[in-house]
Amino acid sequence: MCGIVGYIGKDKCIPKIIKGLESLEYRGYDSAGIAYKLNNDIEIVKEEGKIVNLKELINKDLDSYMGIGHTRWATHGMPCTVNSHPHKVGKITLVHNGIIENYEKLKKYLKEYKWQSETDSEVVAALIDKLYQEDNDMLKVLAKLKDYLKGSYALGVLVDGLDMIYAIRKDSPLIIGISEDGNYIASDVPAILEYTKMYYLLLNDEYAVLSKNDVTIYDKDGKISTKSLEVFEGSIDAAMKNGYDHYMLKEIEEQPKAVMETINEYINSYEALEEKLKGLEKYEAIDIVGCGSAYHVGLVGKYLITKYGKVEVRTDIASEYRYTEHIYRKKHLIILISQSGETADTLAVLRKAKEMGTQTLAIVNVVGSSIAREADKVLYIKAGPEIAVATTKAYLCQMMILSLIALYLGIKNKSLSKDVLKEYKELDKLISDELENKEKLEKIAQLIYQKKDIFYLGRKLDYALCLEASLKLKEVSYLHSEAYAAGELKHGTISLIEDKTPVISIVTDDDIRTKTLSNIKEVKARKALSIIISNREIDDKSLYDELILIPKVHELISGALVMVNCQLIAYYVAKLNGCDIDKPRNLAKSVTVE
Ligand code: F6R
Repeated sequence: MCGIVGYIGKDKCIPKIIKGLESLEYRGYDSAGIAYKLNNDIEIVKEEGKIVNLKELINKDLDSYMGIGHTRWATHGMPCTVNSHPHKVGKITLVHNGIIENYEKLKKYLKEYKWQSETDSEVVAALIDKLYQEDNDMLKVLAKLKDYLKGSYALGVLVDGLDMIYAIRKDSPLIIGISEDGNYIASDVPAILEYTKMYYLLLNDEYAVLSKNDVTIYDKDGKISTKSLEVFEGSIDAAMKNGYDHYMLKEIEEQPKAVMETINEYINSYEALEEKLKGLEKYEAIDIVGCGSAYHVGLVGKYLITKYGKVEVRTDIASEYRYTEHIYRKKHLIILISQSGETADTLAVLRKAKEMGTQTLAIVNVVGSSIAREADKVLYIKAGPEIAVATTKAYLCQMMILSLIALYLGIKNKSLSKDVLKEYKELDKLISDELENKEKLEKIAQLIYQKKDIFYLGRKLDYALCLEASLKLKEVSYLHSEAYAAGELKHGTISLIEDKTPVISIVTDDDIRTKTLSNIKEVKARKALSIIISNREIDDKSLYDELILIPKVHELISGALVMVNCQLIAYYVAKLNGCDIDKPRNLAKSVTVE
């Protein structure tokens, strides 16, 4: 939520900051702003809406070599110019990502200040200004900031009269990039990749001072840190659009590669699988926790791990789980799933688990993110940067890690044979084949894009897939869509089915197939427009208007093939509706507030 970028160096800062903000726009995009030093003053330009609006207002050629920028996802106060960042109070100009929980109380402490905006961030600027007036030393101010602020913050700060950028973080991500031409702060690596692959990861309560030629990082005790430099290992291309109309389509198409990169280390032999997952067999119960799509993939995991791994699994939404009472077994594992590794509710569950002494395993994409660092064990997916707000490739990679856990436990308890490993080796080819369905899926999108309600139906694993398919559709196309356990429809929702209401049914489970087909018969009898995704021909042709046939593969991997089709349907429906596919309204990629 909210993206921060800053630069100080030999080059003009504004083009770099704008580029950085554009690549961080997935983090929030309801207003944007830049503060830069020009002659001896700090100038601020900010504007409501996306970064293109800001670009129209700002002169890129200004002789400014130090600045900070921000793209906002509003939390305190509506999206408007005055609430957007940077905020300037006294000698302090800052950009902030996070939430200050005690800002109302701080306002009382800072009663000599007059407030321009409704934000908590302006209060932080005033606090720093006050502390700086007292100490006249920014290092002292940064060292004591944690004593005043409650909540989460990543801050980029400029001080009138000083040629430095100051940075500090707690529970919101911030990195410090270094290059020969200057130094950067950023919320995420893609913002600086065009200029450097080398960066320091700032940890909680650490702070940094950046000058044109130098970066000094201080640990939480105020001592100079000698932490090692990180080097981004992925390709820069992975973070660029590369000619695609939308990141979402690019990322859907990257799935064969992303999935193989994720699972390669596991599938060469049973020994390789065991090497990666050894120890998981000791748990008597597993809780899988995540938000949104990460929760949905957890439901797939619950199904597969219970069925094949023979372990009791509970899956829950992190924001519910963290406030709910649970009964734990002696050997209990909590699996946290998160693409960003920064989702506030998921992180809170992790911290609570650690307090209780329960073992934690994180399945994460972003290397070095908070969840990855704090969990007892982490299994990284290797999806590469995911820029489109709606997740696609990360979801699929997470699904395959959960599937491999089910496989591993299944082999251990002898419900599966080691031969099943072979099935994963062809996965890139199988996913690529589904990507060939584009033309057909675009036609299906034509049939449904003007409808007001769309339903997804399935049972068991197929139902878990329906939940994600439906979320994908509604978040990018703004059409109302609901996923229903097929047997549950007649308990109320069937009243919404009318002439030509689209019902997309997923039917891949042989054990329950006839049951789902009879539910489809029920909606067909109410004249629904029936689209079926199945791994077998449907003999009764009257049951569907369109059939998407996927190959018959092991249940451990068939979900991936189903989902590629659902992602493409969502993409094309959104495209036909002229939606802003990569940045759906009101959403943000990394939800670092509760
Ligand atoms: C939906 C989507 C979200 C995320 C959720 C969790 O397409 O992307 O529902 O899955 O916000 O985010 P992470 O995985 O970063 O914890």
